[in-house]
Amino acid sequence: MGGMSPSLDDLPLRDDLRGLTPYGAPQAPLPVALNVNENTHPVPEEVADDILDAVARALRDVNRYPDREFTQLRESFAEYLGHGLTPDRIWAANGSNEVLQHLLQAFGGPGRTAMGFGPTYSMYPLLSRATGAQYISGTRGSDFTLDASSAAAQVAEQRPDVVFLCAPNNPTGTPLGLDVIEAVYDATDGIVIVDEAYQEFAPRESPSALTLLGERERLVVSRTMSKAFAFAGARVGYLAADATLIDALRLVRLPYHLSALTQAAATAALSHSTTMLRMVDEIVGQRDRMSATLDALGYRAYESWTNFVLFDGVDDPQATWQALYDRGILVRDVGIAHSLRVSAGTEDETTAFLEALASIDSEA
Ligand SMILES: Cc1ncc(COP(=O)(O)O)c(C=O)c1O
Repeated sequence: MGGMSPSLDDLPLRDDLRGLTPYGAPQAPLPVALNVNENTHPVPEEVADDILDAVARALRDVNRYPDREFTQLRESFAEYLGHGLTPDRIWAANGSNEVLQHLLQAFGGPGRTAMGFGPTYSMYPLLSRATGAQYISGTRGSDFTLDASSAAAQVAEQRPDVVFLCAPNNPTGTPLGLDVIEAVYDATDGIVIVDEAYQEFAPRESPSALTLLGERERLVVSRTMSKAFAFAGARVGYLAADATLIDALRLVRLPYHLSALTQAAATAALSHSTTMLRMVDEIVGQRDRMSATLDALGYRAYESWTNFVLFDGVDDPQATWQALYDRGILVRDVGIAHSLRVSAGTEDETTAFLEALASIDSEA
């Protein structure tokens, strides 16, 4: 074979996967990594100790399969979310990506459609297609806002089986009003997923879509421990919905999909939610400092209710991305013209980013 490795085209790959590219945010060992909206603060020492104890205890029983229904973890999520939720209305998986995949496996799939409003989270199309559904890209207004009448009209026209509403939106940081969720829900017979991956970074007084769950049996609110809980490496996402909808997800999950170690670690972390969430205010402070300084440098920071900022006014995003990279700082070019996205860092990381950007400007 002359050492030539085959290309994907040579494999009997599913036709509907041909031409797709995998999720691929660069993972580079740079000192200041602000490219994938991680929580830049590590888990506090006293919480880490407790998690370690819990994982050690779980390890003693690791010869047995874990609790398939992750009962204790569900109870912890129900308690954390409040809003009168009970454990039978909670689901969890290895990251909210897997939570979304379960939803698509149950309610999307071949012959069906899923819809999001671009620019939005890049995994929506990928997860939709990989599970066999067609993905429909709806549009947003200027400044990436989405209003109720436009969203409802687009949904009524396209009649998707699954709708993604990212609230607040990645990669733009844009808030989403509850009126949009209500209008979209009323405009469809399909499943409406509100992805609240960044909800903890929104203003305290802003209501979550959890307040809308009530009798809406097709509404799903998805969350993750990756961002506010600084748990990206542990891979834990969850959702709240009607108990019957949760039953549907049992049909598609792999048996024992949440390992005993994951369940133990997440349950222990949730018992320290106040401590775990202490960093959120600090991160919000850095985010707002970032936005203000970006504006002062002559860029335009979009309003953000998340732990990152999208800013425009970048003449050549690829060149600025590279110049920051050369200074040890990793940000994200999300493919929006004249824009880059940057996660809020620790105070030092945020300062390093802002100073590097200012130094690039003064050279240009
Ligand atoms: C909007 C949104 N949803 C879901 C995720 C997935 O998070 P995880 O799979 O780590 O829970 C992300 C991660 O960046 C995100 O931005």
